[in-house]
Amino acid sequence: MNILVSGGAGYIGSHTCVSLLEEGHQVIVVDNLSNSKYEVIDRINKITNRNVIFYKADLTEKDLIDVIFSKHAIDAVIHFAGLKSVGESVEKPLKYYHNNIVSTLNLVRVCQNYGVNKFVFSSSATVYGNNQVPSVETLNLLPTTNPYGETKAMSERILKDISSANPELSVSILRYFNPVGAHTSGLIGEVPNGIPNNLMPYMTQVAKGKIEKLKVFGNDYLTSDGTGVRDYIHVMDLAEGHVAALNSLTKGVHIYNLGTGRGTSVLELIEAFEKANSIKLSYEIVERRAGDLAESYAETSKAFEELGWVAKRDIVDMCKDAWRFEKNNLE
Ligand code: NAD
Ligand code: UFG
Repeated sequence: MNILVSGGAGYIGSHTCVSLLEEGHQVIVVDNLSNSKYEVIDRINKITNRNVIFYKADLTEKDLIDVIFSKHAIDAVIHFAGLKSVGESVEKPLKYYHNNIVSTLNLVRVCQNYGVNKFVFSSSATVYGNNQVPSVETLNLLPTTNPYGETKAMSERILKDISSANPELSVSILRYFNPVGAHTSGLIGEVPNGIPNNLMPYMTQVAKGKIEKLKVFGNDYLTSDGTGVRDYIHVMDLAEGHVAALNSLTKGVHIYNLGTGRGTSVLELIEAFEKANSIKLSYEIVERRAGDLAESYAETSKAFEELGWVAKRDIVDMCKDAWRFEKNNLE
C-alpha cells in the first residue's frame, strides 16, 4: 500500500516508517520538521535500505496537502503530526488547538476529497484523565487537565462524527501509554527539544552527564514504593502496533490501547536502567509535579484479540535501546 505518514520524521512516526517499509509498503512522509530533522529520513532509509518519499509541509496549510494527494495514489493515512508538550499547551493553548485540530481537519477533508477511507490516529492515554486503572477503552472520558489532552479527545470525537456520516470510513484510534526506547540500530530515537519533560530521556541525559541529577517527582503516592507508576512501552512495539492496526482496519471507528498492561514505578525504572546499562544514576526525591497521576496502565486485551498484537519487548530492552541511542546521539 501507499501509506501517507504525517509527522513521520518524529519519534514514533520514524519507527513506524521503519516497520511499514519492512512490511513492503511505500511510505510518503509529510512533516514540517517543527520538532524533527530531515536527517531522520536518511536514517530510516539507511536502516531499511528503502526510500521514503518526503514532503516538508505544514498540515495546517490545506492546499499543500491537496497537492501531495494529487501526486500519489494514497491508500491509507497514519496521522502522527502534532504538538505534544503538556506544559507548553497550558501556556500556549491557541497554538495547540490550532496546530493539532486544524491539521486533523485538513487531513480528513483531503482524505474525503480523494476517497481515502483508511485512517489511523495517534491518541494518548491522557484522554482517560484521572479515571480508574487499568484504563479500558470503554470508559467514559473525563475532561483532561490540559489543552494538549483536549486536542486528542476532540480529534477522537471529530473522527467518530465523520465516520458516522460516512460509513465507508475505517478508522483506528490508538491510545498510546508511555513510549520509550529506540530502534536497536541506535540510528533513530527520541530527541527532546531542550530539557526533557519525560522520565526516560531525562534519565539518559543524566547518564550521559548532560544533566547532573534526576528529580523524582514525589514518593508519597499510593503506589508500591510511593513513586508514580506508568505503562512504559517500547517504541518498536508501538510501531508494530500501527502495522497491526492498519492490517486489521474495518469500517467504523475502533479504539485500542497500546501499552504492555504492566505498571513500573519511577524507582523501579531507575533500578532497571542502572542494571541494564551498568551505570549509576544520581537522583533526589522532590515535590510532586503538578497534574501528575499516581498510576496509569493499560488494559490490553482488546488490541490482542482484535489486532493480534501484543508488546514483546521488556523494560530491560527499553533501557538498553534508549541508552544506545543517547550515546550515539552527538547533540
Ligand atoms: P514528535 O514531536 O517526535 O513527532 C511529531 C512530528 O509531527 C514532528 O516531526 C513534527 O515536526 C511534526 N509536526 C507537528 N505539527 C505539524 C504540522 N502542523 N504539520 C506537519 N508536521 C507537523 O512526537 P511523537 O512523540 O513522535 O508523537 C507522535 C504523536 O503521538 C503525536 O500526535 C503525539 O501527541 C502522540 N503521542 C505521543 C506520546 C509520547 O509520549 N511521545 C504519547 C501519546 C501520544
Ligand atoms: N517523572 C519524574 N521525574 C522526571 C520526569 C518524570 O519523577 O524528571 C515521573 C513522573 O512524575 C511520572 C513518571 O515519571 O510519575 C512518568 O512521567 P513522564 O513525564 O515520562 O510521562 P507522563 O505519564 O507524565 O506523561 C506522558 C506523556 C504525556 C501524556 C501522558 C499520558 O508525556 O504527553 O503520558 O499518556 F499525556
